[in-house]
Amino acid sequence: MDLAKINALTADDMSAVNKLIAKRLQSDVTLINQIGLYIINSGGKRLRPILVLLGSGACGYQGQHHHSLAAIIEFIHTATLLHDDVVDASELRRGKKTANAVWGNEASVLVGDFLYSRAFQMMVEIRNMRVMEILAEATNTIAAGEVMQLLNCNDPDTTEERYLHVIRSKTAKLFAAASQLGAVISQRPKEEEMAFATYGMHLGTAFQLIDDVLDYDASSEITGKNIGDDLAEGKPTLPLIRIIQTGSPSQSQTVRQAIEKGGLEHIDAVKEAILTTDALQYTTDCAKNEARLAIDALSIIANTPYKEALIELAHFSFNRNY
Ligand code: IPE
Ligand code: IPE
Ligand code: MG
Ligand code: MG
Repeated sequence: MDLAKINALTADDMSAVNKLIAKRLQSDVTLINQIGLYIINSGGKRLRPILVLLGSGACGYQGQHHHSLAAIIEFIHTATLLHDDVVDASELRRGKKTANAVWGNEASVLVGDFLYSRAFQMMVEIRNMRVMEILAEATNTIAAGEVMQLLNCNDPDTTEERYLHVIRSKTAKLFAAASQLGAVISQRPKEEEMAFATYGMHLGTAFQLIDDVLDYDASSEITGKNIGDDLAEGKPTLPLIRIIQTGSPSQSQTVRQAIEKGGLEHIDAVKEAILTTDALQYTTDCAKNEARLAIDALSIIANTPYKEALIELAHFSFNRNY
């Protein structure tokens, strides 16, 4: 099973989710519609809503709340992207200019807030306290993760542990919530709910580890994002931390300086260090291990095509190039 097959399995549900997204994006304020439509219609893998649908499918869910939850999760994801691109000063997303590059930082931040709060309005409509608890905690953790990451920027002494804490917060937490919600609305036993959450946590960690590899080792035509954004912001991601720890003294020094100063002045020297050390292999191996832990977590879940798709997504998380 590959991503296309997973998409086929969730196609009907996803088309309902996309309709709901378009409907709930609407506002009387034209600029909100413009920016909202621009980013929502520019593609994106829709992985997090797929997780909601697959988790619901794996639990045999029969109701309608999974569509709203999938839309809510995509709104939260989109809001974080709008904010993240401002913070990271990124200019390319999903193969198009970022909203901040087109409309400016102010508009991006405010429309991000609109999407966040729209997600909360929709959440309340579901009238399930446990759902609200999970999503409120997830959004709060994401925000804390982005702030922690800001504090790590330009700090070459950032440890692997601190880095992992950031990516679990800013990225994996939303994957965990998305994976867990199907079990919650299906009222599955706590043990199963936690199995899905653990799966999502590891999946999301693998996913961000590879995102951080791709920032050095991909083409922007394929990822739809500019390569080197992390270095430009002085972000100490795992490939760089690995060079500082295990590279030669001069490689380590080069990378430390590049993180401290930010900018792309040192990109060639850093790329050279990346290519001549195990930095990317080490990071990819960590991702592979996380993907394995994700799959292990599902061992107590009954075998269905939905579970098979979740396992396949774990493989995709570290084999991907976009
Ligand atoms: C981008 O996520 C942000 C990260 C957590 C790395 P995706 O790679 O899922 O972005 P889209 O939605 O497919 O554009
Ligand atoms: C993920 O981090 C951002 C969020 C979880 C909001 P990145 O900054 O690496 O994501 P991209 O590379 O811009 O998509
Ligand atoms: Mg970014
Ligand atoms: Mg990135």
